[in-house]
Amino acid sequence: MTERIKQISEAFGAKISGAETLGDLNNIKIKYLGKNGEVTELLKNLKNCLAEERPIIGKKINELRQRIENSINEREKNLAEKAKLKKLEEEEIDVTLSLAHKDTTGALHPLTITKNMFINIFAGMGFEVKEGPEIELDYYNFQLLNIPADHPSRDMQDTFYITDKILLRTQTSAVQARVMLEEKPPIRIICPGKVFRADDDATHSPMFHQMEGLVIDEKDKVTLGDLKGCLDEFARKFFGEDSRIRLRPSYFPFTEPSVEMDVSCFMCKGKGCRLCKNTGWIEILGAGIVNPIVLDNCGIDSKKYSGYAFGIGIERCAMLKFGIPDIRILFENDIRFLRQYK
Ligand code: PHE
Repeated sequence: MTERIKQISEAFGAKISGAETLGDLNNIKIKYLGKNGEVTELLKNLKNCLAEERPIIGKKINELRQRIENSINEREKNLAEKAKLKKLEEEEIDVTLSLAHKDTTGALHPLTITKNMFINIFAGMGFEVKEGPEIELDYYNFQLLNIPADHPSRDMQDTFYITDKILLRTQTSAVQARVMLEEKPPIRIICPGKVFRADDDATHSPMFHQMEGLVIDEKDKVTLGDLKGCLDEFARKFFGEDSRIRLRPSYFPFTEPSVEMDVSCFMCKGKGCRLCKNTGWIEILGAGIVNPIVLDNCGIDSKKYSGYAFGIGIERCAMLKFGIPDIRILFENDIRFLRQYK
């Protein structure tokens, strides 16, 4: 027995120093301490020893088991530490490495590019950016803007209602009402943002973007001429210096008079082509002199003040500027499309 214990101890010593992985170590553990392991066998055989030898041999076996357990644990710690260091070394990041070969940087979405251009142009004319909620009350989106519940002009905008009183705003004009209620003239704001209408084809998306503009000041200071000057400046800055604009009479309940604005076709320079459907002009926005009813609804004295407002379609302008044929491409998140705008 004593001889056997010595043998096992020596063999174990050789094995453990040769263990290179946690897997090796586990095998060793099973070989010696497992259910049929060598040390376990020794303990089982103890009963065959002479009764007076049993306590001494038993003690020796236990010491051996303890030694084996300790060495295994120690080696395990050792190997784990080594593995960690190796991993750290392998995963070391060289921050000086050039990334020039990697195409990982993103680009701004063409709608964001367009929106930012709009903001820059109007900020240059002294406009301040405002925002309002996308989930809006009927009150701000329609009622304050002179569109009562039963008014036929509601049919101009096919609305997503959440309840009778709450809807997804159909126009950034809702922010006009909010700003007028909160601020005193002079007011000079733009409001870019998402709007929603139940509309879906190559040129309409149920979610799209507008940028509202609103200017309010003392009566003689804001005229249709000022509106035209402002929009003319915008068109030349955005579509190019040789762009021309024209205003056509239109109807919006919250402006009186109301106009629609066309910009001269920048593809054919007004001669007529496919893009402008041979008219030489492309419609891009609605505008007008703020209806005095709306001013009064929003707590601004229409005898003292007047204003103009406009609402520009951001998708429309982006599609024209970048030659995008179908509005849906803008929302498909196809990386090949988006990459072009780097
Ligand atoms: N809100 C109008 C629309 O969505 C556009 C508009 C804004 C017209 C401001 C006049 C003044 O069609």
